[in-house]
Amino acid sequence: MPDTKTASLQFLGKQYNLPVRIGTEGEAAFDITRLREQSGVITFDEGYGNTGSCESTVTYIDGEKGILRYRGYPIEQLAEHSHFVETAYLVIYGKLPSPVERAKFSDLLTEHAAIHERMVYLFESYPRDAHPMALLGAMVNALACYYPHLATNTHFGDKDNFDEAAATLISKVRTITAMAYRMSRGLPVIYPRRTLKYCENFLHMMFSDPYDHYECPPVVSRAMNLILLLHADHEQNCSTATVRMVASSGANLFASAASGVCALWGPFHGGANQAVIEMLQAIHADGDDGTRFIAEAKLGKNRLMGFGHRIYKNYDPRAKIIGKACEELLQTLGIKDPLLDIARRLEYVALNDSYFVDRKLYPNVDFYSGIMMRAMNIPVNMFTVLFAIGRMPGWVAHWREVAMSGRPRIYRPRQIYTGSVKRDYVPIEQR
Ligand code: ACO
Repeated sequence: MPDTKTASLQFLGKQYNLPVRIGTEGEAAFDITRLREQSGVITFDEGYGNTGSCESTVTYIDGEKGILRYRGYPIEQLAEHSHFVETAYLVIYGKLPSPVERAKFSDLLTEHAAIHERMVYLFESYPRDAHPMALLGAMVNALACYYPHLATNTHFGDKDNFDEAAATLISKVRTITAMAYRMSRGLPVIYPRRTLKYCENFLHMMFSDPYDHYECPPVVSRAMNLILLLHADHEQNCSTATVRMVASSGANLFASAASGVCALWGPFHGGANQAVIEMLQAIHADGDDGTRFIAEAKLGKNRLMGFGHRIYKNYDPRAKIIGKACEELLQTLGIKDPLLDIARRLEYVALNDSYFVDRKLYPNVDFYSGIMMRAMNIPVNMFTVLFAIGRMPGWVAHWREVAMSGRPRIYRPRQIYTGSVKRDYVPIEQR
């Protein structure tokens, strides 16, 4: 029987035994924690494609099979039966809440929906056309200034305020987002209502005006819940890994989440949902049905945004759910969006083209989410902000795993230095 608990590595005539860690789903990892100490050699894995940086109990993904589970529950079941607030509880606390726990969590979110009045002045000091992701990052970080009792270093104690800090962050991001939207358009700020649920309250703060309450159609509230729920966590993606990295230094929840917002912004990550719509609009404006664009993508002249994923080498299960929900939403609202036709055509062409098939490039969650958000009147530059609102429970859960583990250890990768070897300083007149 081969030894599955140890791997061995040979280098310069010496053998190093590496313990093997096995996850609950059978994933195996060579544990190299002591490798450098024993051998003087480090491992190299640019982009971390083969590196497990931590153990985590939050989310399981099998990218080859297209499986995604939060705390063991398949994403398909959560999408069908749960809603964002319940799923947020699950992601953060590791279990489905009882009715009492769910009501208590919802009440806590309601209680913390409003933001400190003086934060309004912060918004006013930003340019009207500031990108909402820049504002979100700044405002989430600023929460540490306005709620300092929740911005503590938990590495060595003070775990009592976690529930309040988590609820403050998850609840206030939607208020911040709606406020940023209203102020960018010169519209009066709308305050949250205690009687409304999470998504309805967000849409109320976005679209009501002082004299006319926005009545949220149930289909829109369901779609918003679904979008946020599908984004709630995705294990060690770029932004979550960033949040964990920042948390490992002992930084507070708000600072760590703000770093997640910044990492999410880029078009290779959360910014892809905005990039997808801009790509579809450009294709539409060119009178192309997608064929020309695909041909250029194959030549490396552009990228098919919303396609491909570092982990999924199969259909992203979230894209399957969101693609179907997108059709249903547009149909129920009676919207005919030419961008949906182009997206469907791009998907069909790509999935039948060896360039995409051989590289295992499939639609990811961002491919259809933007078309849904457009149908809900969410402006394109706010798509990534909605992704951030949805991802907040995941960041909170991962921050908690790092900051409250009881085993504080700063994340600090190494590098292979490829710069100049030692050289002596040259006085300026001799250069
Ligand atoms: N369009 C065209 N070609 C692509 C695409 C794409 N969307 N994605 C990857 N490729 C090609 C690459 O050019 C490369 O080809 P090559 O082997 O001939 O050089 C090959 O597929 C592998 O690509 P990598 O960039 O090495 O894959 P990686 O795992 O590093 O990148 C990523 C994954 C960033 C998601 C990439 O697929 C991409 O840029 N997609 C578009 C942006 C996007 O949708 N991002 C959202 C991701 S999901 C999320 O964060 C929520």
